[in-house]
Amino acid sequence: MKVLVTGGLGFIGSHTVVELQNEGFEVVIIDDLSNSSEDVLDGIVAISGVKPHFEKLDLKVKEDVISFFKKHSDVAGVIHFAASKAVGESVNKPLMYYENNINTLVYVLQELSKLNTQNFIFSSSCTVYGQADELPISENAPVKPAESPYGNTKQIGEEIIKDTCKINENLNSIALRYFNPIGAHFSAEIGELPIGVPQNLVPYITQTAIGMREQLSVFGGDYPTPDGTCIRDYIHVVDLAKAHVVALQRLLENKNVSNYEVFNLGTGTGSSVLEAIQSFDRVSGKKLNYKIVDRREGDVVAAYAETKKANDVLGWKTELNLDDAMASAWKWEQKIRNK
Ligand code: WQD
Repeated sequence: MKVLVTGGLGFIGSHTVVELQNEGFEVVIIDDLSNSSEDVLDGIVAISGVKPHFEKLDLKVKEDVISFFKKHSDVAGVIHFAASKAVGESVNKPLMYYENNINTLVYVLQELSKLNTQNFIFSSSCTVYGQADELPISENAPVKPAESPYGNTKQIGEEIIKDTCKINENLNSIALRYFNPIGAHFSAEIGELPIGVPQNLVPYITQTAIGMREQLSVFGGDYPTPDGTCIRDYIHVVDLAKAHVVALQRLLENKNVSNYEVFNLGTGTGSSVLEAIQSFDRVSGKKLNYKIVDRREGDVVAAYAETKKANDVLGWKTELNLDDAMASAWKWEQKIRNK
């Protein structure tokens, strides 16, 4: 079966392509290479021995999306990762984010709705919850006003899919709300490739440890948490990738109970920034150089997933823990810096 993975050369996309190919799916990747590289294909081949079909395509160009789907009308499912995802950047470039994250979703859904089979997996984020009132966070937690244009594009994206599913019963969709994806494939053939100064914690940790960054700044040590630093649910990207295959198979096997479903994808365990640093030190044998500084605007105090629905309904749960993820992130950093 042919599966389209948009943004398939990106961090989570590439790991999902590997897992799809491991399950025997024929994968077609669309990527505009704005935040990834065609070299990622070599890593995918090195792991799964199969080279996915790749088309460099800008999904903002409606005509190109139309011609793609005319050529690939036999697509059995679409996993839609393609989007800009930097929270801070989105605050400074809101229109770029709305154009890139919303227009592309609309064009893909418009063309998908012309096919006989319409299975759609949407890359969403726990950021839609903002600072949830209750922890762990379940799928019933209220969606709160977004703290950034990036987060808003995820909320709007879910609404677009929901509204479309209401009038198109042939469209079956699942929104996957990720917590904090980290780590890399254990082979170190693929991983996270942040461009410029990393915004996210784990790439900043590994780049500090490898000597690319002077020191990690821990944003805030005075939060109402056990050690004063923010708590997050760090999920291994390989566990996350496997969840996408399970979600797609759920739709292909018509096991979904409605044509729009939502699942939180996390470990269910919250870890503080200092605990993440301790995990890194434990698995690397290094002593990370960090200092606690002022809080970062827009950070929530704590977020970690209620995993019951994903475990019991989707039939998926994480198998890897924080140390596994940190060790894989460190191995990947050393690999790409040839150290
Ligand atoms: C994690 C914790 C920071 C960097 C965002 C998006 C989410 C997803 C993942 C795209 C926080 C602290 C970080 C640093 C630090 N993005 N930190 N020093 O903000 O939880 O989630 O990225 O899909 O949708 O919202 O992730 O890794 O930026 O931060 O102390 O140099 O690490 O304050 O507590 P975040 P993050």
